[in-house]
Amino acid sequence: MAIAPALLEVTGLGRRYGNAPHEVVALHSIDFAVQLGEMVAIMGPSGSGKSTLLTIAGGLEAPSSGTVRLGNQQLEKLSSTELAEVRRRHIGFVFQGFNLLTGLTAVENIGAPLELDGMAPKEARRQAQEVLEAVGLGDRANAFPDDLSGGERQRVAIARGLVGDRQMLLADEPTGALDTETGASIMQLLRSACTPNRAVVVVTHDPNVAAWADRVVTLRDGNVESTYRPAGAA
Ligand SMILES: Nc1ncnc2c1ncn2[C@@H]1O[C@H](COP(=O)(O)OP(=O)(O)O)[C@@H](O)[C@H]1O
Ligand SMILES: [Mg+2]
Repeated sequence: MAIAPALLEVTGLGRRYGNAPHEVVALHSIDFAVQLGEMVAIMGPSGSGKSTLLTIAGGLEAPSSGTVRLGNQQLEKLSSTELAEVRRRHIGFVFQGFNLLTGLTAVENIGAPLELDGMAPKEARRQAQEVLEAVGLGDRANAFPDDLSGGERQRVAIARGLVGDRQMLLADEPTGALDTETGASIMQLLRSACTPNRAVVVVTHDPNVAAWADRVVTLRDGNVESTYRPAGAA
């Protein structure tokens, strides 16, 4: 069997904040890879470096050392303009706090970034509507975030992360603000988003959420402590 190269490959990744004597080492030296079609959960105690790893993998922040390859791009070699383009085209980010723009409707929240990227408004709206339907919110397109439930808002945030067929969806504690049942429906949605052409990485401290993943990577003090496959994972 041929072994396909990973979609995401993080090697020797380190991240420090501040300067001595107040320096904080968020990540020591992390090796981490994600294949297309795979859902990976990142677990670990608060402060173990989960969000830092996710933001660097998503090109939102630069590492202090090490490399991040996404597809055939080495992120640390890109200019900020190139990096922004890679982010827009290939990476979707879902935050715990939804961070939708309250002045825009659901469909506008998803379409606005496409328009900013130069897409014609009509086409942006069409794609936004299509992905809203895919997450089960086709009939809520014109609702404002304040009129949506927590679960619906998170669906909109996920739709925004999927629009444009992005290959990598990164979600930081996507169920953290939701009740158990709503959280499970969000995990089901993320699971269904994990098609052969996409990978999903979910940060969570909830073992029930991690159980949805193909692989669970646990961080401790900025290092990978362990990797395991949950029972039932393929
Ligand atoms: N912008 C920052 N400035 C200074 N320290 C930071 C910053 N971001 C994260 N850290 C520190 O890095 C460590 C890892 O943080 P984080 O990645 O947010 O952990 P987790 O998501 O696992 O809770 C923590 O000690 C945190 O205080
Ligand atoms: Mg965090």
